[in-house]
Amino acid sequence: MRRPLMAGNWKMHKTIAEAVAMVNELKGKIADVKDVDVLICPTFTSLYSLSNEAKGSNIKIGAQNLFWEPKGAFTGEISANMIVDAGCSYVIIGHSERRQYFGETDETVNKKTKAALNAGLIPIVCVGETLNEREMNVTFKVIEKQVRDGIKGLTSDEASKIVIAYEPVWAIGTGKTASPEQAQEVHEFIRKVYSEMYGSISEGTRILYGGSVKPDNVAELMKKTDIDGGLVGGASLEASSFEKLVKFSK
Ligand code: PGA
Repeated sequence: MRRPLMAGNWKMHKTIAEAVAMVNELKGKIADVKDVDVLICPTFTSLYSLSNEAKGSNIKIGAQNLFWEPKGAFTGEISANMIVDAGCSYVIIGHSERRQYFGETDETVNKKTKAALNAGLIPIVCVGETLNEREMNVTFKVIEKQVRDGIKGLTSDEASKIVIAYEPVWAIGTGKTASPEQAQEVHEFIRKVYSEMYGSISEGTRILYGGSVKPDNVAELMKKTDIDGGLVGGASLEASSFEKLVKFSK
């Protein structure tokens, strides 16, 4: 009932030429995939070229961030409409690296989520606990606050469009994946919190897992009831590895 979504978060990697070359290669490799949504989120500079390269294929393009104001004197920022203008349909919001290095909070996540929805983008809202928080046994408390404050105040229609990504900070780029059981436990919890906020809409909400997803662990993760896809960094940077992730069930 929930269509899987495999999303590549390229972070600050690849020039325009490198990005176009990889999407070109990936297009051929996954042309026959019909049952999974495939998304690539490159740097801002590659968005427009990649959207053109992906036209007519089953690959969608998304941004990694946005600013919530529609326009104005905000040097260095990019609005939701500009991202749509560049050919995107998705945007990642509140990634832990943005929270850690660029001071993003649940409040800014909420503003960005609303701005994305207003412009017709699908936000992928990221939540996740640090290692310290996990060890202190406050994982559920931290996640609940991030979900409640980050995604509050939406209409039912808006709430039905959101994608949530659970990315334990200790698993990102470390090679340490959460076990499928650890991930499932938190995904189930996120869906419960979302259902307390937005009722039965939560049944259709896709919750992605992120944090060292690789070709050799993706199938086990995807078997879990509440894991509906992946938000993948390192393993999304090469066409052959990302192809394996997209074809996780084969
Ligand atoms: P990783 O990154 O797959 O390299 O751990 C995931 C992410 O940060 O989205």
